[in-house]
Amino acid sequence: MASIAPTSETKCLLKLIVNERAVSVAAPPAQRLSRVLREQLGLTGTKVGCDAGDCGACTVLLDGEAVCACLVAVGQVENHAITTIEGLKSRPPLFDRLQAAFLRHGAAQCGACTPGMLISATALLERNASPSEADVMDALGGVLCRCTGYRKIIDAVLDANSECAGSSRPAAGASVGQRLVRLDGKHKVDGTEIYGADEMPAGALGLRVIRCPYDRARFRFGNLEKFVAAHTGVEAILTSKDVPGEDCYGVIPRFADQPVFAHEEARHRGEAVAAIVGEADVIEDLDPANFPVCWEELPAMRTIDEALAPGAPRIHPHRPDNVLTRGRVVRGNVEQALAVADAVVEGEFETGFVEHACIEPEAGFARRVGDQIEIQACTQSPYMDRADIAKLLGIPAEAVRVIPTAVGGGFGTKLDLSVQPFLALAAWRLQRPVRMVYSRIESMTCTTKRHPARMRCRAGASKDGKLLALDFAADFNTGAYSSWGPTVAARVPVHASGPYSVPHYRALTRAIHTNIVPAGAFRGFGVPQMAIAQEQLYDDLAIRLGIDPLEFRIVNALDNQTPTVTGQIMGEGVGIRACFEALRSKWIAARAEAVEFNARASGPIRHGVGVAGMWYGCGNTSLPNPSTVRIGLKRDGRIALHQGAVDIGQGSNTIVAQICADALCAPVDCFDLISGDTSITPDCGKTSASRQTFVTGKAAHMAGKELRRSILRLAGSHEDAAIEFGGGTLTIREGGKQSSFSLRDLPLDQYGYVLTAEQTFDPPTSALDENGQGRPYAVYGFGAHMAEIAIDVELGTVRVLKIVAAHDVGRAINPTLIEGQIEGGVAQGLGMALMEEFFPGKGENLHDYLIPTAGDIPPVESILIEDPSWIGPFGAKGIGEQAVIPTAPAILNAIHHATGVRMRRIPATPDRIREAILAHVSSDTGAARG
Ligand code: FES
Ligand code: FES
Repeated sequence: MASIAPTSETKCLLKLIVNERAVSVAAPPAQRLSRVLREQLGLTGTKVGCDAGDCGACTVLLDGEAVCACLVAVGQVENHAITTIEGLKSRPPLFDRLQAAFLRHGAAQCGACTPGMLISATALLERNASPSEADVMDALGGVLCRCTGYRKIIDAVLDANSECAGSSRPAAGASVGQRLVRLDGKHKVDGTEIYGADEMPAGALGLRVIRCPYDRARFRFGNLEKFVAAHTGVEAILTSKDVPGEDCYGVIPRFADQPVFAHEEARHRGEAVAAIVGEADVIEDLDPANFPVCWEELPAMRTIDEALAPGAPRIHPHRPDNVLTRGRVVRGNVEQALAVADAVVEGEFETGFVEHACIEPEAGFARRVGDQIEIQACTQSPYMDRADIAKLLGIPAEAVRVIPTAVGGGFGTKLDLSVQPFLALAAWRLQRPVRMVYSRIESMTCTTKRHPARMRCRAGASKDGKLLALDFAADFNTGAYSSWGPTVAARVPVHASGPYSVPHYRALTRAIHTNIVPAGAFRGFGVPQMAIAQEQLYDDLAIRLGIDPLEFRIVNALDNQTPTVTGQIMGEGVGIRACFEALRSKWIAARAEAVEFNARASGPIRHGVGVAGMWYGCGNTSLPNPSTVRIGLKRDGRIALHQGAVDIGQGSNTIVAQICADALCAPVDCFDLISGDTSITPDCGKTSASRQTFVTGKAAHMAGKELRRSILRLAGSHEDAAIEFGGGTLTIREGGKQSSFSLRDLPLDQYGYVLTAEQTFDPPTSALDENGQGRPYAVYGFGAHMAEIAIDVELGTVRVLKIVAAHDVGRAINPTLIEGQIEGGVAQGLGMALMEEFFPGKGENLHDYLIPTAGDIPPVESILIEDPSWIGPFGAKGIGEQAVIPTAPAILNAIHHATGVRMRRIPATPDRIREAILAHVSSDTGAARG
């Protein structure tokens, strides 16, 4: 079915049967069914991710068949039965069991795809009660998920018929280590979770941003007043003149350089120059082509080479050579070490832009409440948003309230402001609520991407396989504004050694401005790109030395006493060797099977097995990184847990509560979660850099301990006493004695609690010196992936057969949620290795930009290693970013194992693989002739 453009055609009264109820709606017959369901009937469980039939988030049942509601014209379905997720509750027991299975298996992370998945699964199970795995993959194939890697969703659907007794909550002090069902899971599986686009305040105005259509252009507005006067319902046009405060924002204050609206010249395609605000339906139907602006296209620099060319114009006048920033870590004497090495290898590697492709496009609303502005939108960093909005409006930070909605996938891109400045400016000035939702195209055009990287490296080792030196240099295309470019440039040199001992080391990086949409944070801050180069290079080195690639890594793996390339000695908690060793028996068997398969192969299919390792520092690099958690004992005996860490699907709402519960020695069921609102939760920093389990978890651990001490002090009891919470009474058991006291009449403190504990944790790090020496992170996570692949050497296509992922997580607070992170990371790593590349200005949709579907994902075996960190809560380390890093290099090393071809331009798409194979064959032939 073709997609439908918004229309202003005449409304008709249409009769629909929605969730077994007859309803009438007034809408143009060509209106999208998804829009009618959401905006007229309030059934916001049906999500919209693309409005083009690509993502499946809008899936509903139409006469029992799963269809994309965004592709169905409402006029076509008069008197047909439509079922949304809200209506599935009338289908017990199937739906109840399916929901329970999704929760039990951890199949919903951010939850944005979950309604579409549940609807598709229901359609399948109603026609086939015992589907095979292939049936399930087929049924879910039209719904995209960016978080889970699909395996847990498939398992949940296959398990939906089992009569499970339901999970019992662990006893006091026994939550950590349990596969606790996500505490915030219910809303994700019943369609009541509220995302950025789901709140529609009565009378809210709409807002449309006018964006630059060129990579670089000067512009001049026509008569804006006349435009407003000519369009009934348009209230205002906002431009840079309407920013009352300092018109310059950015996630790293020292590098802030981005205006809300460009002034006279736009630096990248999609940059905002103005916004039209007015009645929502008027804004919806406006044709932006009629907006009075004249463009003068200017020469633009899209590539690193163009930006670095002698005489290239500066994109920012104060940044010579278009270099935003540099990173540097140097140790020992690289040249000397390479000169004496028995084997030296070198290579150049290049990776492209990668799009986050969150299923939920950016959305939210803002309203003015007296002298305060409230912004309710999807974000990973409410306090950072608050600071920038205050600066833009020229008001104190306390006058800005940020209330994060549920986040339908973030992966780093929702660390940056998107809709918030436009909404805040409009609502502040017009004193009415203002709402906006990015279209998929708008989201892909103007939000941040993974940095493309160009990397050159040389590595040397002695003949016994000991790494001697690595020389690494990388340039990152950081686009027109700084965003997280400085973080990428700083983090990569610290990590470019990989999790190995490298005594002589030089890693130099640059973030280069171009006239491209800004590159920002994307799961790993540059480390996944770097690992593609470094892990392939080390494979070459092992092969050159005739050493098994896994054993080469084990020989060189960091240990507790070996200094890292920044001179840091961890002392404990370095679990990388254990990760590699956990793969050894599987590696030996899989490599032998692949070799045997290839020896027998008569057709074009070859098998290969590759391995890669990773390490990743948890939290900010050598910068303060605090989280503050407050907990309060209520008069009813329950515990209020104020934690501002935004759960973007990774599970911090559950994990932080598990940690706090065990520190307090209370059942997790006693907790009331109060999350993410700058007016009521203390600052837990941003959700990024794998820091929430470690940093916020630690603050929650400390707060739990403190509250426990306060309670026991109040009761006059010893620190070993047991506390029983509940029913407005505390019961203390100690040395065979028991005493109780009522909380009901006790006075309340300033926070409204009987007792409050608030604790801040900031990981101990140190600044790096001019050679990058110091202690950049307090804790690192470690991991190793093994990839088994089948490759068609004639077509260049790769199928990943299996991934084994071993991760040292310190302490597995919730194994189900950790496996979910690993499987989701594997899926993104697979996409990065084989299919995902974003070309600015082309294919800004989920039809042309391919992300893995359920059919692309192999079985993933997760192995959890627990080598406790010295300082994490119960020894825990982060896992979010870690999980994505080793997948791509493991797959690329497997391609080399199967074919002898080293992929240097990533993603390794079939055309590139085929080209590399042909070049390899012809160089072999040439060598043979020579
Ligand atoms: S919103 Fe309908 S398929 Fe994406
Ligand atoms: S859980 Fe599927 S998109 Fe987030």
